[in-house]
Amino acid sequence: MGTAEMIEDEQDIAKLDVTPDLPGGSKPLDLPILQGTMGPSVLDIRKVYAETDCFTFDPGFTSTASCESKITFIDGDKGVLLHRGYPIEELAEQSSFLEVASLLIEGDLPTQSQYDAFVNDITHHSMLHEQLRGFYDGFRRDAHPMAIMVGVVGALSAFYHDSLDISDEKQRIIASHRLVAKMPTLAAMAYKYSMGQPFVYPRNDLSYSENLLHMMFSMPTEEYKVDPVLARALDKILILHADHEQNASTSTVRLAGSSGANPFACIAAGIACLWGPAHGGANEAVLNMLEEIGHKDRIPEFIKRAKDKDDPFRLMGFGHRVYKNYDPRAQVLHNTCKEVLSVLGHQDDPLLELAQELEKIALEDPYFIEKKLYPNVDFYSGIIFKAMGIPTSMFTVLFAVARTVGWIAQWKEMMEDPSQRIGRPRQLYTGHTPRSFVERAKR
Ligand code: ACO
Repeated sequence: MGTAEMIEDEQDIAKLDVTPDLPGGSKPLDLPILQGTMGPSVLDIRKVYAETDCFTFDPGFTSTASCESKITFIDGDKGVLLHRGYPIEELAEQSSFLEVASLLIEGDLPTQSQYDAFVNDITHHSMLHEQLRGFYDGFRRDAHPMAIMVGVVGALSAFYHDSLDISDEKQRIIASHRLVAKMPTLAAMAYKYSMGQPFVYPRNDLSYSENLLHMMFSMPTEEYKVDPVLARALDKILILHADHEQNASTSTVRLAGSSGANPFACIAAGIACLWGPAHGGANEAVLNMLEEIGHKDRIPEFIKRAKDKDDPFRLMGFGHRVYKNYDPRAQVLHNTCKEVLSVLGHQDDPLLELAQELEKIALEDPYFIEKKLYPNVDFYSGIIFKAMGIPTSMFTVLFAVARTVGWIAQWKEMMEDPSQRIGRPRQLYTGHTPRSFVERAKR
């Protein structure tokens, strides 16, 4: 059922008496109710300001749908995540990252020939303009790789002038493919730079995830063979992180894009937002937390701290704005984690044991039960990355590589929406009322 049909249906108008204290007295307001294909209905409040002179107030967007989208659906109570209708568990087990990328960006699972063309395009855009290498030298060797990523991804817009015209569909596609293709190269270079090792060029005979491992871990001095188990595990992790509807970084990308900014600049904005420990930075924070806890015996002490209102400590990798049930991505990752550790002969990894014990204790604790706090995607990803030899500071960078696909899909959807307007929230002003300037000597 189309949205427009629903708006016109009398039964789908909410009659709200929202204005009892306004000058002029009470005035009932008819608000259209929009119905998606799944998920809660949405009250269309677009005319509230024009008709009532009131704004709505929703900091943190806990009750606000910021856009219409056909890409990803989450049912946080049931722990369901669908991309274009396909369950994340099936995609993680049966698909590849580039196939999921094509699904998210193009809207449907590709046929064999569409898939081959997409893979070919991404593969042939993985190299960087040679001059971009020089940007890395401007950073300190101990720079956080996310700091480097924010800079170099934004800098792409200074190199690829032929894909900056966002009104040209062809250019939008080229920019999208360039971003997906170049992210692993940029990420691996950030890692190599921090290690003081030479940059490694991508290889067209390798898959997306194999190439990422190759560019991070191979050295000019000896042959590096990519472990297929690790490449598959990495591919699965990338699939699980590819998109998550209107999360903070995706909303940042959409807001940046709503002004007409070029896609490279928009993705750089998304990376900046993802960096925060309440978002993508949590996978790094989980590992740091597990290392700080150190031993099972200390878990109760940290659980106690997490519950203490006066202590800023939170159990990292736990809780989610949308999931009030087990994050389905965490479930897949828990299993992948066990597989990878057993292949690598690390099945007795003390960090995995500690994480599993922490999860068990937290899930039995009334505080976590009552607040519906479950492990999220970041809880197990760090342990897998660590076992693969990836340093902690690179965890969020790999998240950014994966999420670039979702950011691009969401940005593209927004650019193709004829009703798209610049995002411009309003505010509840609580500052000073007008007052006269006071000369400095008299203050
Ligand atoms: N440890 C302890 N208490 C927590 C935790 C946690 N990890 N998460 C939430 N709570 C508590 C809060 O203190 C709050 O308690 P109150 O109702 O008594 O005030 C209640 O649960 C609700 O939490 P909010 O912060 O209001 O929920 P919000 O939706 O704003 O935050 C968030 C969600 C940021 C993910 C939060 O759960 C958190 O900080 N988790 C740890 C960081 C983390 O793992 N982030 C990754 C998220 S997934 C992702 O971005 C890929």
